[in-house]
Amino acid sequence: MIYTITLNPAFDQTINCENFTLNSLNRIKDVRVDIGGKGINVSKVLQVLEQESLSCGFLGEENANEFISNLNQLGLLNDFLILKNQKTRTNIKIIDPLNNHLTEINESGFQISLNDIKNLAKKLSPIINKHDFIVFSGSLPLGADPSLYTYLITQIKTKTDNIILDISGESLKQCLTYNPLMIKPNLVELEELFSTQFDSEDKILNACKDLLQQGVQNILLSLGEHGSYFFNINESFYIKPISTTINSPVGAGDSQVAAFVYGLANDLPLLETLRLTSAVSTSMISMAGTSVPSLEMIKSFLLKVKINRINLKYK
Ligand SMILES: Nc1ncnc2c1ncn2[C@@H]1O[C@H](COP(=O)(O)OP(=O)(O)OP(=O)(O)O)[C@@H](O)[C@H]1O
Ligand SMILES: [Mg+2]
Repeated sequence: MIYTITLNPAFDQTINCENFTLNSLNRIKDVRVDIGGKGINVSKVLQVLEQESLSCGFLGEENANEFISNLNQLGLLNDFLILKNQKTRTNIKIIDPLNNHLTEINESGFQISLNDIKNLAKKLSPIINKHDFIVFSGSLPLGADPSLYTYLITQIKTKTDNIILDISGESLKQCLTYNPLMIKPNLVELEELFSTQFDSEDKILNACKDLLQQGVQNILLSLGEHGSYFFNINESFYIKPISTTINSPVGAGDSQVAAFVYGLANDLPLLETLRLTSAVSTSMISMAGTSVPSLEMIKSFLLKVKINRINLKYK
C-alpha cells in the first residue's frame, strides 16, 4: 500500500472575481470549495494512474465530516486522526480571470502536539509493513516544532524504509539523516536547505551530490518551467520541460511525487519512472486549479518526454 500523509490539510475555497480590486467592493462570480493538501493531491494523481493509496494525517473535528465525505465522494481511501475541538483550515484563492491574477490567503491551520503525533504513529504503525511506501507531503501547521516530523519518521522507520519526503525547511533538514528513499525539493526548497542561492548549474549539482553523500537515496529536483534533474548514487539525468498551455502550476510537484512512487511501487525501470514524472507534471499544469488530468492526456505527453544523461562525479 502507498500511504500519503498530510499533517495540515485544508479546504481550498476558490473565488472567481473579475477585476478583483483592493480597498473596494468586489462581487463574486462563482465560488467552489475543494479538499486540498499536498498528500491528498498525490493520492488524487495515483488514482488516475489506477494505483490505490490511503490518505492519512490529521483533520479537525469541527468540519471533519465534510472533509471525509468529500474524500469518499472522490473515491479516495482515507483514515485520518481526528483532533478534538479543532477545525481544518480553509485556504482562499481569489482568481481574477480577466487580469490573470491569483491572490492566495492561507490560514495557518490547527495546532498539533507531540501527543497527537504519537497517536498518529500508534494508528499507522500496526498497519504498515516493510513493502509499503509512505509519502510525507507538505508543511506542519504553523508554530509546530519541526522535530515532530522526525519523531513520526523514526516510528514509521521501524516498519518500512520506504520513506518519500516532499517537505521543506527545517523539517526536511532534520529528516535527511533518516536516509529517505526519495526527496523532491524544488529549487527554492533546495536553496533553503543550504541557506544560499545557486547561481550556476555546478553549484546545484554539488548541493545534490552533498545530499546523496548524506544518505538521501534518490533526488528529484524540480525546476518549474526549466524541467527537472534526477540524481542517485549511480545515475543522473536532466529531464527537459515539455511545452504546453499552462492553466495552473499548482500541484505540479505533487504529481511528480505521485508518478515517482507509482514507479517504485510497480518496479518500473528508472527511465520509465522519470518519463512518467515529466508526463504527469506537464499534464497537471495543463489543467485548471488542482483538477487532475486524464490517463489519456498523460499518455499523450509520455511520447514527448526527452531525458539526457548527465555525468556527476562522486570523488
Ligand atoms: N511552466 C512550466 N513549463 C513546463 N513544465 C513545467 C512548468 N511548471 C512546472 N512544470 C513541470 O512540473 C514539474 C514540477 O514543477 P515545480 O518545480 O513548479 O514543482 P513544485 O514547486 O514542487 O510545485 P508544487 O509544490 O505546487 O506541487 C517541473 O519539473 C516540470 O516538469
Ligand atoms: Mg512542491
